Amino acid sequence: MKTIDELLTEGVEGRRVFVRADLNVPLADGVITDDGRIRAVLPTVKALAGAGAKVIVASHLGRPKGAPDPAFSLLPAAERLGELLGAPVAFAQDTVGPAAHEAVDGLEPGQVAVIENLRFNAGETSKDDTERGEFADRLAALADVYVGDGFGAVHRKHASVYDLPKRLPHYAGYLIATEVGVLKKLTEDVSRPYVVALGGSKVSDKLAVIDQLLGKADRILIGGGMAFTFLKAKGYEVGTSLLQEDQIPAVTEYMARAEKQGVELVLPVDVVVAPGFPDLKTKAPTEHTAVAADQMPEGQLGLDIGPKTGELYAAKLADAETVFWNGPMGVFEHPDYAEGTKAVAQALVDSNGFTVVGGGDSAAAVRTLGFDENAFGHISTGGGASLEYLEGKTLPGLAALED
Ligand code: 3PG
Repeated sequence: MKTIDELLTEGVEGRRVFVRADLNVPLADGVITDDGRIRAVLPTVKALAGAGAKVIVASHLGRPKGAPDPAFSLLPAAERLGELLGAPVAFAQDTVGPAAHEAVDGLEPGQVAVIENLRFNAGETSKDDTERGEFADRLAALADVYVGDGFGAVHRKHASVYDLPKRLPHYAGYLIATEVGVLKKLTEDVSRPYVVALGGSKVSDKLAVIDQLLGKADRILIGGGMAFTFLKAKGYEVGTSLLQEDQIPAVTEYMARAEKQGVELVLPVDVVVAPGFPDLKTKAPTEHTAVAADQMPEGQLGLDIGPKTGELYAAKLADAETVFWNGPMGVFEHPDYAEGTKAVAQALVDSNGFTVVGGGDSAAAVRTLGFDENAFGHISTGGGASLEYLEGKTLPGLAALED
């Protein structure tokens, strides 16, 4: 994989460089609530602009349906990028149309333009190679060189991620180089004990990674909504908690395999329950109690791991040499259900080992809960991407940069 440093050595003065970033940031009423992904691409954009390139930054945001939709405009992200760069950033209101060409034609060396959400064009995410290829051809017409730096999207076989680098000289940006370096460390020469904390809502999203980790990790701590499928598989009642009944056989098999292989698969010993889901907008205080995991009352739902579990997981993380954490332990967006996620984040902060926070939600949780990002070994910008890497899958966006 050629890196941006090689491109800089070749020289970029006056060349149009297409940077595929992942500016898919969380927005609330049009306001960015976590700009981590924008900050993560700054080193690449700054280096290119500083070397006199005409920089075109492109990304998706959300999941619009292949047509323009103002709710998913990249404009707020473009404005934030301009603020962080301390320089004006041009914004094109289309992806490959007249506005994009005008914005790119208007760039002087060292200037930056952002084009509109790539997913406003159906070709971006199409499963049809020809349709994707046609969109990639039109994107290629905007630029002379491609820099892949949207780590969060490298697991997507999309036009700007997979097909476009095949059409232009291509290089990996600083973010992708860093992310891949960290993930290699987790898969190749891991220092032990290697402890993995997994949360998030759906167990189905995590099955493949658990499958892989059963052969690699020493301990796996389970939290978040996905924990209830495990607890149900153990025979506990889980009230109205999130449950994926169809995954119970898989989960049961993993628990048996963990025992056989000597991997500690640790489940919550207590949970915070409430009669209903909290209002995340008003964050109004709720009625909630911590109960033993095998004593969940009927009609209540679990929204966080309990305080005893928080302590238990902190103890299980204390001697770790390597930690990978993906997925919040509870509904951290509401203060009544943020303690479990805080306890795990704090355990990573206190750890002397190499700690990696993998992914969108857990990365956003760490920042919105006020933790110092520098207290972690690495905060990945890619949730799905880092999980698929750890699953051992070939990631289209990395494969395309290798060729
Ligand atoms: C993410 O948020 O994980 C990436 O930006 C990819 O987004 P996607 O899941 O909509 O493809």
